[in-house]
Amino acid sequence: MELERLLRSQGFGSRPDCRELVRNGRVAINSEICDDPYAEFNPENLEFAVDGVRWRYTEKVYLVMNKPGGYEVSHQPHHHPSVFELLPKPLLTRGVQAVGRLDEDTTGLLLFTDDGQFIHRYTSPKKLIPKVYRVTTKHAIDEVQIADLLAGVVLNDEPKPIAAVAAEIVSDCVLKLTVTEGKYHLVKRMIAAVSNRVEALHREAIGGLSLPADIAVGQWRFLSAAEIRALTQTHCA
Ligand code: URA
Repeated sequence: MELERLLRSQGFGSRPDCRELVRNGRVAINSEICDDPYAEFNPENLEFAVDGVRWRYTEKVYLVMNKPGGYEVSHQPHHHPSVFELLPKPLLTRGVQAVGRLDEDTTGLLLFTDDGQFIHRYTSPKKLIPKVYRVTTKHAIDEVQIADLLAGVVLNDEPKPIAAVAAEIVSDCVLKLTVTEGKYHLVKRMIAAVSNRVEALHREAIGGLSLPADIAVGQWRFLSAAEIRALTQTHCA
């Protein structure tokens, strides 16, 4: 693939922008500057650098972020900064989107990709992807609340009760809750339905992927091939 086209596919701007980048000596392949925009490279796993920042070619890109509180998952945030501000420009240019949403005050595992099929698979209500939340509540959680969450709670505007697929007391005011749906404020509404209240919400896992321990709050990284496999092999429908 021509270098100019390769850079364009990775989010470095229009073809003329990419041509300029290369001609200005800002692009290195395997640590050597290449100033020919039409030079041909096999893109598979190709490592390149733009202005000294290293990248690897990927046909589709998959990221995991440890979402901080106080950030909205939206390109047009209303009251807070956007999580997209935490990502580098080339990833935004190539169309990376969040896979589902988290509330502004929710923290933890958030996926991003430019793979539309993947987003569809992970956000479609028909696919029962488990999402695990660590929920801190205002009042102590008791076994009756756990039983109600597992049996299903009635929420406003929902035609039928919604049940957690797992609910486990961690400590007085902390529980681990697994749900498969992705409805608006779902966990907060379920906890309110059992007469309690969410004080803090942290997503620990989606499907077979737990939030990697090596990602600090507000940081992100590319998913490894094994992590992508863990995700794609765990949907139940
Ligand atoms: N449920 C909620 O209430 N909020 C989230 O951010 C995610 C799930």
